[in-house]
Amino acid sequence: MDKNNPKMQTLLGNVAIATLLFSSLFLFYSWSSSSSSSFLPSQFFLTPKQSSCNNQPNNKSSGIIHGNENEEKNHNKLDSALAKASRNKTVIIAIVNKAYVEQDDADGESTMLDIFLRSFWFGEGTKSLVDNLLIVAVDETAYDRCRFLRLNCFRLESDGVDDFGGEKLYMSNDFIKMMWTRTRFLLDILKRGYNFVFTDTDVVWLRNPFSKLSNNETEDLQISTDKFNGDSWSPKNQLINTGFYFVRSNNKTISLFETWYGKKDNSTGQKEQDVLLDMIRNQGIIGKLGLRVRFLDTLYFSGFCQDSKDFRQVTTVHANCCRSIFAKVKDLNAVLRDWKQFRRLESSNNSSMVANHKWSVHEACWNSWKG
Ligand SMILES: *[C@@H]1O[C@H](CO)[C@@H](O)[C@H](O)[C@H]1NC(C)=O
Ligand SMILES: *[C@@H]1O[C@H](CO)[C@@H](O)[C@H](O)[C@H]1NC(C)=O
Ligand SMILES: *[C@@H]1O[C@H](CO)[C@@H](O)[C@H](O)[C@H]1NC(C)=O
Ligand SMILES: *[C@@H]1O[C@H](CO)[C@@H](O)[C@H](O)[C@H]1NC(C)=O
Ligand SMILES: *[C@@H]1O[C@H](CO)[C@@H](O)[C@H](O)[C@H]1NC(C)=O
Ligand SMILES: *[C@@H]1O[C@H](CO)[C@@H](O)[C@H](O)[C@H]1NC(C)=O
Ligand SMILES: *[C@@H]1O[C@H](CO)[C@@H](O)[C@H](O)[C@H]1NC(C)=O
Repeated sequence: MDKNNPKMQTLLGNVAIATLLFSSLFLFYSWSSSSSSSFLPSQFFLTPKQSSCNNQPNNKSSGIIHGNENEEKNHNKLDSALAKASRNKTVIIAIVNKAYVEQDDADGESTMLDIFLRSFWFGEGTKSLVDNLLIVAVDETAYDRCRFLRLNCFRLESDGVDDFGGEKLYMSNDFIKMMWTRTRFLLDILKRGYNFVFTDTDVVWLRNPFSKLSNNETEDLQISTDKFNGDSWSPKNQLINTGFYFVRSNNKTISLFETWYGKKDNSTGQKEQDVLLDMIRNQGIIGKLGLRVRFLDTLYFSGFCQDSKDFRQVTTVHANCCRSIFAKVKDLNAVLRDWKQFRRLESSNNSSMVANHKWSVHEACWNSWKG
């Protein structure tokens, strides 16, 4: 895949298609002038625990400490973005970078963001959820694209990393850095009192997840799995996936995210998901904080690692167990085709065909691990 060969035509084509699809959805959305500097408060960076176990100089590893004025301005921007996008203090968060909004493969069908948004259009009961979606852009290209699409957009400035723009290959250093930046940002959202669904943009939304997520407020975290162990309450052998989860804002979940982020500098070579998994499986964090954590069944919240067994139940499909954006785009397009075909069968009342409908093989993703 050649990432140095942007195809303007394809890009414009995608923009046009996306605009056509979504222009009817959106009311006029006026945004404030483009953001400037990092809003992230320094309080996350310099907890005594972190600095004591960190050999690197703090000014480098912990990011830039900004003037109060800019910080405050960006705080307010996040507050108003959250207020606008949320419903009942709940918001849907997706983080995008340049690689997810641009398509520079010669035979590219669409970008990841296009597919993600298209799923809200083709899904059942998902169209209006776009109003509650806050797109968090980690670079200027992603931010511009978001605003062009008239979505709710927020520009997240990164610290210490100059460019979050390119494709981050699974488990590369930049990939890991980006993952930690998002954990810190999400902690910030919890601290502001917002519950949120976090979704990767390589998750397609085929049904409204709120009808399958528990609305019992005692459930602090509901998290998707690569492979479901059969018991929603047992962390044993549960392979969590941080690409989709619902978390409520309370003191326990804030502690969870603080503990999680606090391990950033003591988890060399591990991505944040592995760290959380370790906290849940081996460090008893659920018991320690008194959390109620529901592990989500892949029957509803599925992925390429484990397909949903039933089109009549499936809610989300995550392109997990897949290495490159190119492969994800290809195989998620196939998922949307499978879904549309299912909807046609359903509306023709052909129940035997509906029951036997199968997912296409995720061929590009399987192949993405070779070579
Ligand atoms: C921290 O930054 C200051 C000013 O930017 C610099 O003078 C100092 O050497 C830095 N400290 C370390 C440990 O890098
Ligand atoms: C908002 O949250 C409250 C309290 O959790 C709940 O009773 C109410 O049904 C929710 N409203 C909507 C529109 O979801
Ligand atoms: C929420 O879950 C708790 C614990 O299982 C249960 O005691 C409570 O009745 C539930 N609340 C509602 C509103 O279902
Ligand atoms: C969290 O704890 C603080 C102090 O311990 C308390 O004032 C606050 O109400 C708590 N917040 C929630 C959401 O429980
Ligand atoms: C860092 O990790 C090591 C090995 O997992 C552990 O023994 C040590 O206590 C950790 N240090 C801190 C400060 O958490
Ligand atoms: C399918 O069934 C529903 C309800 O049973 C009915 O209203 C509808 O007309 C049927 N559609 C077709 C194409 O037969
Ligand atoms: C369902 O579709 C299959 C294959 O297209 C067809 O053979 C069958 O007759 C259909 N059944 C009904 C009830 O329409």
